[in-house]
Amino acid sequence: MTESPDTSNTQLDEFNIFDPGVQQCPHMYYAMMREETAAYETRAMGGSLFLVTRHGDVADAALDHSHFSSRFDTGSMEGNSEFSQRLKQLYEDEGGYEPVGTMLTVDPPVHTRYRRLVAQAFTPKAIANLEPVVRSLTAELLDNLIQASSDGASIDFVESFAVPLPVRVMAKALNVPDDRLKDFKRWSDASVAGIGTNISIDERLDAEREVIEFQKYFAAQLERRRITPEDDLLTALVGATIEREDSEADEELVGVPLNVNEMLSIIQQLLVAGNETTTHLLGEMFRLLAENRGEWEALRSEPERSSEVVEEALRLAAPTQGMFRIATEDVEVGSEFIAAGSRMVLLYAAANRDPNVWEDPDAFQPGRENSAAHLSFGRGPHFCVGAGLARLEARIVAEEMGRRLESIEVTNSEQLRYHPSFVLRGLQRLDVTVSAKEVSDHGGDGHGNEPI
Ligand code: HEM
Repeated sequence: MTESPDTSNTQLDEFNIFDPGVQQCPHMYYAMMREETAAYETRAMGGSLFLVTRHGDVADAALDHSHFSSRFDTGSMEGNSEFSQRLKQLYEDEGGYEPVGTMLTVDPPVHTRYRRLVAQAFTPKAIANLEPVVRSLTAELLDNLIQASSDGASIDFVESFAVPLPVRVMAKALNVPDDRLKDFKRWSDASVAGIGTNISIDERLDAEREVIEFQKYFAAQLERRRITPEDDLLTALVGATIEREDSEADEELVGVPLNVNEMLSIIQQLLVAGNETTTHLLGEMFRLLAENRGEWEALRSEPERSSEVVEEALRLAAPTQGMFRIATEDVEVGSEFIAAGSRMVLLYAAANRDPNVWEDPDAFQPGRENSAAHLSFGRGPHFCVGAGLARLEARIVAEEMGRRLESIEVTNSEQLRYHPSFVLRGLQRLDVTVSAKEVSDHGGDGHGNEPI
């Protein structure tokens, strides 16, 4: 099935990035922008914002940090705006840790140091070690889903599956105990509350209050790990330093560990990026499989095709629609002139449907030859640090769905609503029914894992 955007009755000048109607289905606007210009200029957040939509331009800009800087968030406490002033006051009153820019919002060479330090904690081995946890959680949540819809009742896949799986996996990775899971999800939601949305100053400050709560919890955990190391990611962060042998190391920073503000910023980024995005991917992957019966049948008969399903869902339903950049000097994108200091968004979601790269780009066709060309995890120095974990989670979910489920249906297709953000795109709810395959087909969970 093709999710072909119908552009016949749509005018590009009706486009408003914050319009909930646009956010429901931005793809028809992206298609028009791609066609019309290499960098579409719109108004947002008090000024011009250039939207870059063509695959080649987006990929080139993501690779070129010297002209397209990630220092778009220079500190919300700086400046004299009402929000900055009240935020500063809030952090003082509540004893919060002043936020500092780390990975996502800094450029190399500062960025390189953070990347290397995080890489020491977030190794492929550490991710692979999470596989049994992901598999047993997937089995447990799928069983719950089967149970809940056994009498034909619909159940919200987002709430009952797509939210808890990444939250619980990330909590496991960060060693958060089960009785703090609800707080953990609340802190994660608070951390993304202001991203790509138009909420009021009071709402943003309420969210910041919860972020401070998150900071205090993790600052205490980090201090505990400093005194008594454990075998976990937090301990790895506390102990991470750059060696003198590292040829790119800044001499002054050799052997210098991360300070607590930096560690909190990194953990917050892992939390935000690790929870919300993966939730959105899982919801969209379920929807795409339910809407494309042929692909669902193919997955059912060959669950090993799960990686192909995941890559195509990532391409078509990029959970991170785009990321901000600032032009460090006058630049050209395609043949469009962009002045130094301009803000832009590299629209990964638009690039992923560029007809110059993919034939029939709006169609869900797992197994495309150039499936790896999608930009859903970005490209270049900021390429998603958690791509391996997100892929692991989604692959296991698709595989276990194919193994365990007979049928899947979406029952609220006519009322699907997306979160009102132009950066993080995902379904608010997805009502589904599922039925189980015969037991002999999958033979229990087949992995001997006890649910955690
Ligand atoms: C489907 C799920 C995910 C998607 C679509 C996604 C997408 C992205 C994208 C597009 C970027 C690049 C941003 C840029 O260009 O500036 C990024 C960076 C990042 N992601 Fe993910 N992500 C996902 C899952 C995860 C997970 C599971 C984690 C952590 C466990 C994570 C952690 C990060 C971090 C820390 C960065 C910043 C890296 C840097 O700036 O060097 N992400 N992600």
